[in-house]
Amino acid sequence: MLRSVVSAVAFSAVLATGCVIPAIAPSKNIPGGFAIQLQSPDFPAADGHFMNTWLWGGGDFHLFVSPAGNATDTFTLVDGVITLPLDPIRRAVINGEYEPKDNTTKMFMTERGDPRGVFDVVYGCNPKDDSLQLELVTPEQGTSGVKGDMGVRPFNGDLDFRWQPIGTTVSDADRPWHKVTLVVRPTTPA
Ligand SMILES: *[C@@H]1O[C@H](CO)[C@@H](O)[C@H](O)[C@H]1NC(C)=O
Ligand SMILES: *[C@@H]1O[C@H](CO)[C@@H](O)[C@H](O)[C@H]1NC(C)=O
Repeated sequence: MLRSVVSAVAFSAVLATGCVIPAIAPSKNIPGGFAIQLQSPDFPAADGHFMNTWLWGGGDFHLFVSPAGNATDTFTLVDGVITLPLDPIRRAVINGEYEPKDNTTKMFMTERGDPRGVFDVVYGCNPKDDSLQLELVTPEQGTSGVKGDMGVRPFNGDLDFRWQPIGTTVSDADRPWHKVTLVVRPTTPA
């Protein structure tokens, strides 16, 4: 009896994590450049797509799910903040178009000093092929202490990126927000 319990536990552990997660946590600084691929198995419109940039005016870049915008593989991560090493430097911020219906706020890239999107970096296993991957998760809005998830939502026929605090109790059926996992895809093998 004990033996079958032990082997059942071992078996389910293997199923839950097929790849081997390194014991040492990854750095919140990733020199890059890298592209950002989305995983959202329950939402095919974003799953496997990439985070693209769209020159929006005033030097800002808005962020859209591919194929909208320009494919971008020059992102870096600086202290958890998605960064474009341009002149001037553009950083991902969470500070626009707050929407009470689903409690979401837009993430976009700017040179200005809006509250940054500060991500944690974790290792994960690719749900499709079990390969080890780096994921950007649980973004915090600036230094607010409020952690959220990153998701995507319809915007003028495309999908843009919106932050939603964890524990949010509202949703908008007319404009459904879907959580996505952001995966670092190095442009050169790491
Ligand atoms: C894509 O990049 C080109 C070249 O920099 C630029 O002219 C164009 O405005 C960009 N398009 C979008 C949607 O950002
Ligand atoms: C919206 O997010 C804030 C945190 O920024 C949280 O305090 C609030 O309860 C959330 N509202 C709803 C309706 O979920």
